[in-house]
Amino acid sequence: MPYRTIIEPFRIHSTQAINLPTREDRDKALGRAGFNLFGLHADEVIIDLLTDSGTGAMSAKQWAGMMVGDESYAGSRSFYRFLDVVQGITGLPEIIPTHQGRAAERILFSVMVKAGDVVPNNTHFDTTRANVEYQGAEARDLVITEGKDPSADHPFKGNMDIEALERTITEVGVERIPLVMVTVTNNSGGGQPVSMENLRAVRDLCSHHGIPFYLDACRFAENSWFIKLREPGYEDHTPREIAAEMFSLADGCTMSAKKDGLANIGGFLAMRDPLVAASCRNLLILTEGFPTYGGLAGYDLEAIAQGLEEVLDEEYLRYRIRSTEYLAEKVSAAGVPIVRPAGGHAVYLDAKGFLPHIPASQYPAQALAVELYKDGGVRGVEIGSVMFGTVHADGTETPAAMELVRLAIPRRTYTQSHIDYVGEVVVSVAERAESIGGYRIIEQAPWLRHFTARFEPV
Ligand code: F0G
Repeated sequence: MPYRTIIEPFRIHSTQAINLPTREDRDKALGRAGFNLFGLHADEVIIDLLTDSGTGAMSAKQWAGMMVGDESYAGSRSFYRFLDVVQGITGLPEIIPTHQGRAAERILFSVMVKAGDVVPNNTHFDTTRANVEYQGAEARDLVITEGKDPSADHPFKGNMDIEALERTITEVGVERIPLVMVTVTNNSGGGQPVSMENLRAVRDLCSHHGIPFYLDACRFAENSWFIKLREPGYEDHTPREIAAEMFSLADGCTMSAKKDGLANIGGFLAMRDPLVAASCRNLLILTEGFPTYGGLAGYDLEAIAQGLEEVLDEEYLRYRIRSTEYLAEKVSAAGVPIVRPAGGHAVYLDAKGFLPHIPASQYPAQALAVELYKDGGVRGVEIGSVMFGTVHADGTETPAAMELVRLAIPRRTYTQSHIDYVGEVVVSVAERAESIGGYRIIEQAPWLRHFTARFEPV
């Protein structure tokens, strides 16, 4: 019924207290953390929108599943339940559990990618990029032009630029492209979906050249919902049918169950090719564990299996995507620039538009993220030049394409009034935008620097 509020399709069964530290304590915490929000204690944050990964609330059925987890080292019943569910959703035969998404990435790339290769993706997430680069290969982002422009309107801004992919294959040569990946939804590009038509075009191109095609499937259910809402011909399909069609186009996938697995930990690697799977399992045993647990407890496998069933529920997805859009509408109405339309799991504030007086070299998105914490104890994450800037040998930097602050919404965790509060904080920071200054980095690691870098105000 369209005139009714779309409500959270659950009631709260157990709670955790949150509170707002004083302004003085927030300033102290920032000083201690070197203005890096990853350095805060979670207890110093009132609404934590750092990530939607592993931060969701599990259902009573998931907790109940944990109580019947089978902790057998080999052949656990919980593994077979997990296997059934994952095969049922993806249609992929070879399923390898891992402790989280990046473990699946590391194993897959260790097997498939070698130095000098190029891996195209719509947009690599930070760990995906780092794991490709760790093999000595190049991670190349080929999202459509609209996907790089926060204000451009397009229903599927996560789509791969098919012409650019074709050009890349011709220029680089098939032998140096071990696989093509597409990230659904496109996290680093604003949580934007990829259309079925686009996935089909990637599939066709890969088939033509004999290149394997893998999905980074972390948010496959949210992507399925966007296809149902926005792609002609899918209105009457269930999210499960849409997901099945997406996976049917791929040769495999990496998955972080901390997102659309609705679990606090876990992931998997899935594929069609039994030979690739055998090599992956050998590596899995080396660092993750035996192939029927892959670094997870039996109870984790139960929680993931149940979560994967729940995440495809239409009421859940309707609420999920609407609640993100709700925050986007709130801040947009106050004139705050965001990546449009709202992403599935997050609202991305456009720091270039928000703080036009701060040059990319002074990390405007970092400045904005710090300010949201100072103002209201809200923690978001910088997705801009701190995360994706290129540092050259002489110390100069090429900035990232976009300077964004991601406000990621944990699944089933915060209510509408929490989100109203976040909206108020964003708007109050926007009202004094001109008074906000930039930052410089005073300490950084050689890769994934955003996790540990220390900053000072310019
Ligand atoms: N791929 C994508 C698209 C992701 O968003 C993430 C994680 C990963 C891979 C890696 O999975 O964390 O289980 O190892 N994204 C989180 C985030 C961390 O905050 O967006 P992981």
